[in-house]
Amino acid sequence: MVKPFIMGSDSAKNFLEIGIKILSEGKNALDAVEQTCKAVESNQDDHGVGLGGIPNLAGEVTLDASIMCGRTLNAGAVAHVRDYLHVISIARRVMEESPHVLLVGDGAELFAEHLGFEKTKLLTPYAEEFYNAFKEKRLHELGPEFDLDKGYLRADEQDYDINKWFERLEPHMRGTVDVMAFDINQNIATGVTTSGTYLKLPGRVGDSPIIGAGNYCDNRYGAACCTGTGELAIRNGSARAVVVYMKTGMSPTEACEESMKEIQEIVEKPSMNVIAFNSLGETGGASTHREIPYYYMNIDSQRVETRKGSWVKK
Ligand code: GLY
Repeated sequence: MVKPFIMGSDSAKNFLEIGIKILSEGKNALDAVEQTCKAVESNQDDHGVGLGGIPNLAGEVTLDASIMCGRTLNAGAVAHVRDYLHVISIARRVMEESPHVLLVGDGAELFAEHLGFEKTKLLTPYAEEFYNAFKEKRLHELGPEFDLDKGYLRADEQDYDINKWFERLEPHMRGTVDVMAFDINQNIATGVTTSGTYLKLPGRVGDSPIIGAGNYCDNRYGAACCTGTGELAIRNGSARAVVVYMKTGMSPTEACEESMKEIQEIVEKPSMNVIAFNSLGETGGASTHREIPYYYMNIDSQRVETRKGSWVKK
C-alpha cells in the first residue's frame, strides 16, 4: 500500500506540512489539497497566487483555480474571480454543490457571495507599486498603441503587435501553485491556483482552471499538474495527456518528458513545466527550460524533500 503523500510546485514548498498533517490524521486528499492551496493563496509574498498577485493590464487582480477528485473524476473550477481570496475553496464548492464544472467572472463571484465567502482586497501595496511602476516606466516599450488610461488598446492603431511585447514580458512574469495528494484510502486529489500572468490582458484565463490542461487526476493511473505558460498547456491538453501516457505504461518522468517534447515541437522558446505521480506513488516532473524542482512529503517525512525533474531540450 502506498503511504499517503503530498507534492507540489515551487510555491507550495513551505506549505506542504499543512497538507501532510491532514493526511497523517487520516483525512482525505481533497482536504489536504484545499488547505495547502489556501495557505499559498494567503501568502502575500507570492505574486503569482491569491493575495499579492500582480494585476492585469487594467490594474485588477483576477484569480483562477481548479480542484479534481481522482476517485470520481469530479472537478470544480473558477476563473477571472475578483475580490475573493480562496478561489480553491470556491472551486471545491462548484464541484460539490453545483451541477457545473467551471464558473467564470461575475457568475463565479455571485456564487461565492451566495455561499458566504468573504470579500477580500487582493491588490497589496507591493502589487500596486509594481503595476504603477510598470505603467510609468515601461509602458512606452509596448508601443504607442497602448494607453492604459484610455483603454488598454487604442482602436485607431492598426499595426500593433501585441504578441511581440507579450513574448518579451511573459516568461519571468507569472506564478502558479500545484498541489497533489494521495491519501490513506489511496484516493488522489489535485489543485491548481493562480493569479495568472502578470499584466495579462483583461479577460485572460490560463490553464489552471481548465481541467485536462493545467490539472488532471484519475485514481486508476495518477495525477498531473502544470505551471508555466498556460496557453501552451491549453493547446496541448497537457495534464490529461500526461495521465493518459501513464495509463499506457509510461513512468511519471517519461510521461512528463513526452508532454514537454510535444510543446518543444510547436513553440520556439517555451516555458512550461509539469509534475506528476502514478498510482504506485512514483513521482516525476519535466520542464522545457530548466531542471524543475518539485517538493514531496509522505507521512513519515521529517522535512520537505526536493526532487529534480528533467529539462527537456529541443
Ligand atoms: N499557468 C498559469 C497561467 O498561465 O495562468
